[in-house]
Amino acid sequence: MQRAGRDHAVAGSSRGKYRFRAAHYDFELAPFEPVRRKAIEMLAPRPGDTVLDVGCGTGLSFAPLLERIGPTGRIVGVDPSPEMLALARKRVARHGWSGVALLEAVAEQAPLQGLADAALFHFTHDVLRNPAALDHVLAHLKPGARVVASGLQWAPPWMVPTNLFVLGAALYSVSSLDGLEQPWTMLAKRLHSFEVRGFPWVGIYVAGGRVAVTSRA
Ligand SMILES: C[S@@+](CC[C@H](N)C(=O)[O-])C[C@H]1O[C@@H](n2cnc3c(N)ncnc32)[C@H](O)[C@@H]1O
Repeated sequence: MQRAGRDHAVAGSSRGKYRFRAAHYDFELAPFEPVRRKAIEMLAPRPGDTVLDVGCGTGLSFAPLLERIGPTGRIVGVDPSPEMLALARKRVARHGWSGVALLEAVAEQAPLQGLADAALFHFTHDVLRNPAALDHVLAHLKPGARVVASGLQWAPPWMVPTNLFVLGAALYSVSSLDGLEQPWTMLAKRLHSFEVRGFPWVGIYVAGGRVAVTSRA
């Protein structure tokens, strides 16, 4: 496993959160697994694809991604939290997944090689509000590559119980509440054919688009 960008301030505060959360993270995320399925369905990776799993955490997306990309596909998981990545590494070893590479790095400094076919940002609000991270990841995708983000968003103001839930979950998970109205906006500016499938009554969205085919011509 490679390591890079360990001094980044945002990831520093995030690392503190996930140091203590890692051990029970999978249990906490269990109620949100249908959202992961929706996000991966929208990403629709194909057999043989290389997928960047940005902020991969403990690797909960690896199995459903591998189901689609098959034995010839590759996953590159990027995450700055040593504790989260240690669990991802264990998961990979337990299943003997040879097509999964893990990079201990902030997304904006990850030593990505080549161009991938798709990128997933599942519950990674800090990364979605970080232009340098988005630019770096998108620069490592093929023209036409698919990109999907999913996570928490504010519900309409009158939905007080939902917003209390979003507030609690966000304070627990992210470094800044900035952009929770529409967390995908910075990503949307960088992609085309962008589509948002919002479920605001439960404080959740899934959104995605494609890297422009002409962007690096
Ligand atoms: C809520 S968890 C999501 C983990 C995984 N995507 C999932 O769905 O289970 C957010 C993850 O983003 C990671 N993270 C925070 N800042 C990051 C950054 N700048 N670059 C990459 N990952 C980051 C955290 O370490 C954490 O593992």
